[in-house]
Amino acid sequence: MVNIIQPSIFFQGVSLKGQNIIEKSTKIGDYTSYYLDSNAALAQKNELAYSVQCYFPVEAGQDGGLFWGITNISSGLVGNEFIFTKGHFHAKKQCAEYYWGLEGEGLLILMKEDRSFSVEKVIPNSLHYIRGDQAHRLVNTGSSVLRVGACWGSDAGYDYESIQKEGFSCRVFQYDGNISIEKV
Ligand code: PA5
Ligand code: NI
Repeated sequence: MVNIIQPSIFFQGVSLKGQNIIEKSTKIGDYTSYYLDSNAALAQKNELAYSVQCYFPVEAGQDGGLFWGITNISSGLVGNEFIFTKGHFHAKKQCAEYYWGLEGEGLLILMKEDRSFSVEKVIPNSLHYIRGDQAHRLVNTGSSVLRVGACWGSDAGYDYESIQKEGFSCRVFQYDGNISIEKV
């Protein structure tokens, strides 16, 4: 008799439900210095910026495994700047990642170590390949929550430090109802 293992993790709409799903929330107050107007960020410190649901079937750092996640980014502004994820390089620069749009709309900022960048529009069902040497940040430019799926290597690791110190070379603002993508 072969024992058929029943699935334990399910998609429920655009979120994941089931065993071993880890959830992490980040408030604006957790990364005020990342915003151009850090005083505005401080005034909004208790607002939810984004939450991530993750599935880590193997230990972080293990070679060859895969991690899976959904990021939900709030809609709104900090000063004139759209709410974004912190963004990071991978510790291992050869480790790529996939993102895909689930709900809402926004931008994916991809930046290399030489600070050159590209910007991809994220919409439902769009697929985005992030090269291992590209820092990646999601920006919610829409009027509803931006939900984005992700799949990356368990050995990729995170390098937040250079972003924390130097930021991205691209910021996205709203002026008079218009989106303005600026090189900084
Ligand atoms: O693995 C990823 O790139 C994502 O799951 C991000 O970790 C997620 O979007 C949150 O962004 P950050 O890690 O930059 O705070
Ligand atoms: Ni990543």
